[in-house]
Amino acid sequence: MTTAVTPIASAEDATRKAEASTLLSPRFYTTDFGAMNRIDVAPVRAEWDAMIAEYEGDNNQDHFQRDAAFAEEARESLARLSPALRQEFLDFLVSSVTSEFSGCVLYTEIRKSVDNPDLKKLMGFMARDESRHAGFINSSLKDFGLGVDLGGLKRTKRYTYFKPKYIFYATYLSEKIGYARYITIFRQLERHPDRRFHPIFRWFERWCNDEFRHGESFALILRANPHLLEGANKLWIRFFLLAVYATMYVRDHMRPAMHEAMGLNSTDYDYRVFQITNDISRQVFPLTLDIDHPAFRAGMERLCRIAAAADAAKARGGVIGQARRIACAVAGAATFARLYLLPTKSHALPEQVRMAPAW
Ligand SMILES: [Fe+2]
Ligand SMILES: [Fe+2]
Repeated sequence: MTTAVTPIASAEDATRKAEASTLLSPRFYTTDFGAMNRIDVAPVRAEWDAMIAEYEGDNNQDHFQRDAAFAEEARESLARLSPALRQEFLDFLVSSVTSEFSGCVLYTEIRKSVDNPDLKKLMGFMARDESRHAGFINSSLKDFGLGVDLGGLKRTKRYTYFKPKYIFYATYLSEKIGYARYITIFRQLERHPDRRFHPIFRWFERWCNDEFRHGESFALILRANPHLLEGANKLWIRFFLLAVYATMYVRDHMRPAMHEAMGLNSTDYDYRVFQITNDISRQVFPLTLDIDHPAFRAGMERLCRIAAAADAAKARGGVIGQARRIACAVAGAATFARLYLLPTKSHALPEQVRMAPAW
C-alpha cells in the first residue's frame, strides 16, 4: 500500500516535519497577554473551583511512565511494522508531539505573562499535563531514533498570533477533538487487542481525560464571557469548527494504512470523532455543523482530492506544477467557502456547563 505522508528517515526529518508551517501542520500560538489577563471567570465560579480541585488532585501523576512491558512491546512492534504503516505511524507521532507541545508552550507563556490568579493557576496545570504528554510521545519517537528536539522547536517554529477569543475557540476545539480521537482509538483497540500495533495506545484512556478536562476549562472561560458566543462571533465559531474538522479529515485521509491496521476506515473514524465533538461542543457553542448533510460529506471528499492533487503538483515542480498548485489553492478555498455556507444546527446552551467524559 502506498502512503501520502512525507517519509521521516532521521531525527532531522522528524524535527523538520515538526517545524514545518503548512495549512495542515499543527501550529504554535501567541496572543495578547494583557487582554488574556482581564478574563474573568466569576460567573462560573462554583464549576471553576471544582475543576481546579480536580487539577490539584492530579489523578494522572503516575500515568505517563513506561512500564517494563512497554519497552518490550515497542521493540517487537518496530520490527513488525510494514514500511507504509511505519511511515504513517511516525507521521502521527510527530504531528501529535507537535500539537501536545504547542499546548505546553502556549499555556506556559500565558502562565508567565499574566497575574490573574485564576488563569495563572489553570495554565500552570495544563502546561504540566501537556509537557507530560509531549515527553511521553517523544520517548516513543526516540525508540525509533527519531526524537524531536522540543527545546529547539520552541525557538525555531513560527508562531501564529491569535486574539484571545480565537485562542479560546481553537484550543477548546482541539482539546475536545483530541479527546474524541484518543477515546475512539482506545475503544476500537479495546475491542480488538490484536490490532494494537504499538503499546502507546494502551495509555490513551487516562490520557484523553486530561484533554477532556482542558477542554472543560476553555468551555467555562467561554461561558463566563457569553458575548464570545453571540452575534457575529457565531460566524467565527462556525469558521473554527469547519477549519478544525476539515484539517483533521484531510490529514487523516493521508494515513489509510494506520487506520486499516487498527481495523478502522479513515472516513468512519473521522465521522465518529466529528459526532462525539458535536455532542460535546453543545455545552458551549450555540451551533454545530450538519455533518450528515450530503453536501458536507461531498465537500470533505473534495478537499481530500484537492490536497492530493496539490501534493502531486508540488512533487512535479516547475511552471506547470506551480500553476497546478495555484489552481488547487483556488479550488480548495472555493470548496471551503461552500462548506462554510451550508446550513448549521442551532441550539440553546445547557445551564450546567461541565460534562463527564462518557464516551
Ligand atoms: Fe495533551
Ligand atoms: Fe490538552
